[in-house]
Amino acid sequence: MLSDVVDIVPKLRSKHLRFLKILARLLRRYRYVPIYVVSNRLGLKSYFVRKIAEYLSKYGLIEIRKREYEGYGLTTRGLDLLALHVLGGLVDIRRVAKRFDVGKEADIHICYTGDGTPYIVKVFRLGRTSFKKVRSVRPGYYTSAGGWLLLNIKAAGKEYEILQRLWNAGVSVPKPIAKAYHMILMEYVPGKELHKVQLASPKDVFIEIVREILKAYYTAGIVHADLSEYNVLVDERNFEVWLIDWPQWLDVDHIEAQDYLRKDIEQIIRFFNRKYRIPMNELWGIFEGVHREYKLMGGSGETH
Ligand SMILES: Nc1ncnc2c1ncn2[C@@H]1O[C@H](COP(=O)(O)OP(=O)(O)O)[C@@H](O)[C@H]1O
Ligand SMILES: [Mg+2]
Repeated sequence: MLSDVVDIVPKLRSKHLRFLKILARLLRRYRYVPIYVVSNRLGLKSYFVRKIAEYLSKYGLIEIRKREYEGYGLTTRGLDLLALHVLGGLVDIRRVAKRFDVGKEADIHICYTGDGTPYIVKVFRLGRTSFKKVRSVRPGYYTSAGGWLLLNIKAAGKEYEILQRLWNAGVSVPKPIAKAYHMILMEYVPGKELHKVQLASPKDVFIEIVREILKAYYTAGIVHADLSEYNVLVDERNFEVWLIDWPQWLDVDHIEAQDYLRKDIEQIIRFFNRKYRIPMNELWGIFEGVHREYKLMGGSGETH
């Protein structure tokens, strides 16, 4: 649990953090970093390295390996701690501990800055459930790829980068604030998942969603590629919408981009048809109308 990790942060001194950072930096090269490498980088004798390692291992932040060679591996808790340490400069991490939502690939936590502004911390947890299976089916994968820790760091990086691109293009996404290892700090948006709300004027919301999809496509050059009523948040009071959860995005130049764009729109159209009984052809008609309007405004490139 993240709350336990939060409690450990004040118990660590800079040598402990430096030790953990060395393991994180070398994830690509070693699952277990040999003791002499740590010793070199810290400028400390093995005796002191072992002392620090025992302390870190007591809190579950590293794993000590003694077979084959003596070395140390970062654990998920260790990586959580490093990321929280970075985010601690920005938000009150004691309150990150409260989990808000558990998704397929990530945990979502709400946190607050000193002045009480809410933010979202998205913690990537790929491999949490399927770890054993993948490891047995594809032995070697875990070590050669630098492990799940590295995959989660990459996934966070990819989503952070794309959120920035979308945000800069004016697409309605939560504003990305910072990335720390496998965690992203972003703006909290006051919306609920589309399937959870009962809309008074569904067509207006449908139009807003279509606008954002087209803006992402034409202005940012990005297709969501996994859009559904679970990845659209809506503020019922003012029809404001946000498109979230972008790790599987595609560039518009991708060979299947157009197919995925169509699938995203179909997915949303089917939802409005099912829940609000708006005929499919009427929804497609509204879509075509917004699309035409969008192109007239100069939002489109010639090729699309
Ligand atoms: N920026 C945000 N503001 C408010 N709620 C959010 C935000 N980001 C995520 N959520 C909530 O957390 C849920 C899961 O987030 P999501 O990014 O879709 O992760 P997953 O990959 O686990 O599905 C969302 O459906 C939404 O309810
Ligand atoms: Mg989601």
